Amino acid sequence: MSEPIDLAAFPRDFLWGTATAAYQIEGAVAEDGRAPSIWDTFSHTPGKIANGDHGDVACDHYHRWREDIGLMRQLGVNAYRLSVAWPRVIPGGTGPVNPKGLAFYDELVDALLEAGITPSVTLYHWDLPQALQDRGGWPERDTALAFAEYASVVTERLGDRVTLWATLNEPSCSAWIGHLEGTMAPGWTDLTAAVRASCHLLLGHGLATQAIRAAAPGARIGIVNNLSTVHPATDRPEDRAAARRHDGHVNRWWLDPVHGRGFPADMVETYGVELPVSDPDLAAIAAPLDWLGLNYYFPAHVTDDPDGPAPYARSVRREGVPRTGMDWEIDASGIETLLLRLTEEYGARQIHVTENGSAFPDVVRPDGSIDDPERRDYLERHLAACASAARKGAPLAGYFAWSLLDNFEWAYGYDKRFGLVHVDYRTQARTIKGSGHRYADIVRVHRGRSRRAA
Ligand code: FCB
Repeated sequence: MSEPIDLAAFPRDFLWGTATAAYQIEGAVAEDGRAPSIWDTFSHTPGKIANGDHGDVACDHYHRWREDIGLMRQLGVNAYRLSVAWPRVIPGGTGPVNPKGLAFYDELVDALLEAGITPSVTLYHWDLPQALQDRGGWPERDTALAFAEYASVVTERLGDRVTLWATLNEPSCSAWIGHLEGTMAPGWTDLTAAVRASCHLLLGHGLATQAIRAAAPGARIGIVNNLSTVHPATDRPEDRAAARRHDGHVNRWWLDPVHGRGFPADMVETYGVELPVSDPDLAAIAAPLDWLGLNYYFPAHVTDDPDGPAPYARSVRREGVPRTGMDWEIDASGIETLLLRLTEEYGARQIHVTENGSAFPDVVRPDGSIDDPERRDYLERHLAACASAARKGAPLAGYFAWSLLDNFEWAYGYDKRFGLVHVDYRTQARTIKGSGHRYADIVRVHRGRSRRAA
C-alpha cells in the first residue's frame, strides 16, 4: 500500500529533482586536465574503501551525461542538483583555471536548461584538490580563501545561466568524519585539526557567498547541511546531556554561526580547542542566505560516552526498528521535525531538501527490470512527511532525491545502491528502477495539477 502524499501542500513551482556529486559519478579522473582530489588519494589508499573501490570510472557520467539528462527527462523532473569538481576547474587548487574543466560544466548546464531542467550547483562536495591538502587542507585558513577564489571563477562562467548555488555539501562530514573519525578523506583523527577545519569550511562558505554575489548578482545562495533528529537513548540525565552534545556536534555547530549566533558556547567548551576565527570572520560566516539545504537520512539515538572521542556521545543501534541497507534507522518523521526546526528556530525563508534517499540491495530480474519496494516506500514516507511539514508552514521549495544513479558511495564503494536508476558497472547500462517510476508518477501528478491551476 502506498503512502498517501498530500501533493497539494507543495507550491506550484516546486523543484522536483534528483541529486548527484561529481566524484561519485563522473569518473574520467585524469582527463582534460583534471588533477587528483583528496578522494582520489584516499580511495587509492589500501584498506580505506570497501572492496578497494575508487571513483576512477564511477558511472562514467563525464562521457555519458547526455544519456543521463535523457534519464532525467524520462523521470519528468524539472531540477537537478550537481556538484562541480574543484580539481577539474582549478587543478592546483589556486592559480591557473583549466578551460576544459569549465567547458564541461558549461555544456552540461546548457543541455539541462534546454531540457527544461533547472540546475542547482553545489561548489564543494568533498573533492578538495590534493594540491591544497598538501598545503595543509581545511585546517589551514588559506583553503577558505582559495575556495572563495574558485567560487568566483565558477560563478563568473555559469552565473549568467545558473541561479541556484550551494557553497558546501555537508561540511560536518568534511570536518568530523574527514578529520576526527578518519573514515572519509583526508582520513585524519585529530580533534584540533577537525575543529580548525570546521571553522575554515564555514569561513570558506561565507567568503564564497560574497564572491558569488559579486560575480552573479541574481544568484540565490544556500548551504547544504545533513542534519539529524537526536534522541537520548534513555532518560538518564547523562544520556540527555549526551544528546544535547550530539545535537551541538551535528546540528547547532553548523547552523548557529551561519545565522549570526556564533559557535555554540557549550560545544566550544566541549571541544576545548581555540577557534581560529575573528569577529570579522564570524560576520562573513553569517552572510545572508536565500535558502537552506537539508540532507536527511536517519535519526540518532545517543548515549553518554565519556571515554570516546568528542563530543563524548555515541549513537546506539536500536533493535526491532526498520533499517536501510546502510543499517540506518528509518524514521520519516525526522524530516518533518527538521524542516519545522529550520523554520521555527532558524527562521528559514526557503528550504530545499537537497538529499534524501535509501540504499537497498537491488535484484535485477531476468527480464532486466528492478522492483525496489523498500526504496519506494522510503521515498513515499519521506515525501508525505515533507508535505506535512509544508502544511505546517515550512517554506519547502524543492525536493532532490538522492540519487539519480547508483554511484560510488564513498567508503562503502559500489556496494550500496541509492539510485532511482540502476547502474550495471560492467556495461554502464542504466535502468530506471520501480522507485524511479514511482517518483516519475508523483512528479507528473503534481506538475499536472500545477499546470491546471496556473
Ligand atoms: C550524503 C552525501 C552523499 C551521499 C549520501 C548517501 O552524506 O552527501 O554524497 O553519499 O550521503
